Amino acid sequence: MTFILAIDQGTTSSRAILFDGEMRRVATAQREFTQHFPEAGWVEHDAEEIWQTTVAVCREVIAGQGIGPEQITGIGITNQRETTVVWDKASGAPVHRAIVWQDRRTAAICERLRHAGCEDDFTAQTGLLLDPYFSGTKVKWILDTVPGARDRAAAGELLFGTVDSFLIWRLTGGRVHATDATNAARTLMFDIHQGEWSKDICELLDVPMSMLPEVRDCAADFGTTELFGGQVPILGVAGDQQAATIGQACFQPGMMKSTYGTGCFALLNTGIQPVASQNRLLTTIAYQLDGQRTYALEGSIFIAGAAVQWLRDGLGIIENAAQSGELAAHADPSQNVILVPAFTGLGGPYWKPDCRGAMFGLTRNSGPAEFCKAALESVAYQTRDLWEAMQGDWGADADVILRVDGGMSASDWAMQGLADRLGAPVDRPVMQETTALGAAWLAGMRAGIYPDQEGFAATWALDARFTPKMVEGDREAAYRRWKAAVAAAMMV
Ligand code: G3P
Repeated sequence: MTFILAIDQGTTSSRAILFDGEMRRVATAQREFTQHFPEAGWVEHDAEEIWQTTVAVCREVIAGQGIGPEQITGIGITNQRETTVVWDKASGAPVHRAIVWQDRRTAAICERLRHAGCEDDFTAQTGLLLDPYFSGTKVKWILDTVPGARDRAAAGELLFGTVDSFLIWRLTGGRVHATDATNAARTLMFDIHQGEWSKDICELLDVPMSMLPEVRDCAADFGTTELFGGQVPILGVAGDQQAATIGQACFQPGMMKSTYGTGCFALLNTGIQPVASQNRLLTTIAYQLDGQRTYALEGSIFIAGAAVQWLRDGLGIIENAAQSGELAAHADPSQNVILVPAFTGLGGPYWKPDCRGAMFGLTRNSGPAEFCKAALESVAYQTRDLWEAMQGDWGADADVILRVDGGMSASDWAMQGLADRLGAPVDRPVMQETTALGAAWLAGMRAGIYPDQEGFAATWALDARFTPKMVEGDREAAYRRWKAAVAAAMMV
């Protein structure tokens, strides 16, 4: 028997998933790690803990199946994107905690660059916007803040990487400093049109190019690891949202997926031509195979499942996520409670890092059921915002069907609500472990044990299609209320 080991290093946990030669998931191990919030709006991870939890889950699935390293044909890595690690080339020690994608500390740096008139340059080359979300200003902050870091970086002593790159470097014992095109595309320093690091942007951010990893295809040779008792090659790498796009087999232009985790990330495949957004979406790389880049439009929402976590951990009105759907289904239909969950600012298409959450329409009868309904609906309305923006950029007449995955997609109530609020069908696949599957497929395809793109796409199977049932007039009136609520939240 041969296996592919997928590593899914996410925002709240590190996971290892073992797939067999038929792309069936045979074992999973998962470990949560510490979230550090040193100041309001700051989010950090200890890169050492990321490394240790990653190694631990890999060892757990391998030992659990009783297999040897020679049975692992390859490793595929997928990861939380944008999160920034800077480490010492000689010792491998991070010089600062990893600054997480959610972290807002560089809002002022972004604002200064915007005032200097630089945003158009950044967008033209990277497809991104000047927002603290991306890695570039986080690297600058570390170099500006950690004593001696700028001099050490200039002397070639420090390396930068997103989490994939840090893991590759550690797994290969410091032999390979590389990343893939999808992760590079999230750093705010990568020219997505030329497929190379942008010299001008690195100069604007004052980041020495010697710190940057080499950029490779998503299915490529990323070196070998000896950590599991023998030589195992790393053959696939993609940022988690791109891996999910691959795992959902969104290989044709016009195919779109939306993943509901902590946040929600919708990617629309636009083919080999990048589409510049007129509606504040991001232009990014969906995947790069055989040197050919395929592009996507991306809408990024920072709070989706995290709104349900807030109901559970912040308000204590539910004990587990599944209860939110059960309670929401019994909410008073005559109430129009709206939650704008801008807990960490608003992402696409608004991009307001300083906006904060708000609730509207409360009555004396508003209780846990209405709060749950408002939280789940906020995810659907935010998806509708992205959907509208994508239709604006891609063409409203295009027949786009949304493929969903991630924790919240398991809720029929939430997915029916999503279809109702979009006014479009929503497809949920049988295999919902799309992120890990995407990473595994990249590695297995590179190794020659998994099918090619077409063969892989043919394995995608539908679990359920949710078709809109809401009357159009009601849908549009409800969406207008949502838009008014967002506008009011942005004014506070
Ligand atoms: O862009 C951030 C995204 O990659 C994080 O995804 O699933 O770790 O919350 P997740």
